[in-house]
Amino acid sequence: MTVKIAIDGPAGAGKSTVAKKLAKLLNYTYIDTGAMYRAITYKAIQEKVNLIEENKIADIAQSADIILEGEKIFLDGKDISEEIRKPGVSEKVSLVSKIPKVREILVQKQRKIAEGKNVVMDGRDIGTVVLPDAQFKFFLTASLEERAKRRYRELKTKNVNVSYYEVLKEIENRDTIDSQRDTSPLKIAEDSIVIDTTYLSEEEVVEKLYNIIKEGL
Ligand code: C5P
Repeated sequence: MTVKIAIDGPAGAGKSTVAKKLAKLLNYTYIDTGAMYRAITYKAIQEKVNLIEENKIADIAQSADIILEGEKIFLDGKDISEEIRKPGVSEKVSLVSKIPKVREILVQKQRKIAEGKNVVMDGRDIGTVVLPDAQFKFFLTASLEERAKRRYRELKTKNVNVSYYEVLKEIENRDTIDSQRDTSPLKIAEDSIVIDTTYLSEEEVVEKLYNIIKEGL
């Protein structure tokens, strides 16, 4: 039997950094589902599709060849790992990911990628929708200010030109859309372990999760 670990939570809660480290420690495959929604958004912007044209965006989601390779993401053969983190994509991604058809298509792809493997998958609906039978479900959260601070620092190291205030507004806006959409909104799975990371270092969070997993395996 394979082991599935779901990590959900709002933007900037440290999910991806923690999930990556955890996957490395356990020698599991890391799957960043947010990167997949970002890739579709990137392609829609490139093709100048109006984001209210849901069918066109669903077509993009269906035909896009998305390959996740560790921390890298390839779309139709092109490495777009950096492009998808830029503000243009971050601002629009929640509008794309609230389209039910897009979710249906990406959820299918995500389940397929996870099939037959031990995985650590991070996102918003992993424990509730994508992998409801996951043996371990975590919901990471932190105060809005702390999440904005972390995301701001991360963007600064990548030389992205944004202000702290812009980052705070962007993640607040994304959280609102992600939590209020009709299809698989961001919410805590009943059987998930909630961890507030506001006052914890990345290492402490990884250790916490690792210990829970080791005990439960
Ligand atoms: O994880 P990340 O912040 O990169 O995700 C970007 C966006 O993708 C989220 O704000 C959300 O709109 C969407 N998303 C989602 N479901 C997931 C993962 C991400 O709706 N499982």
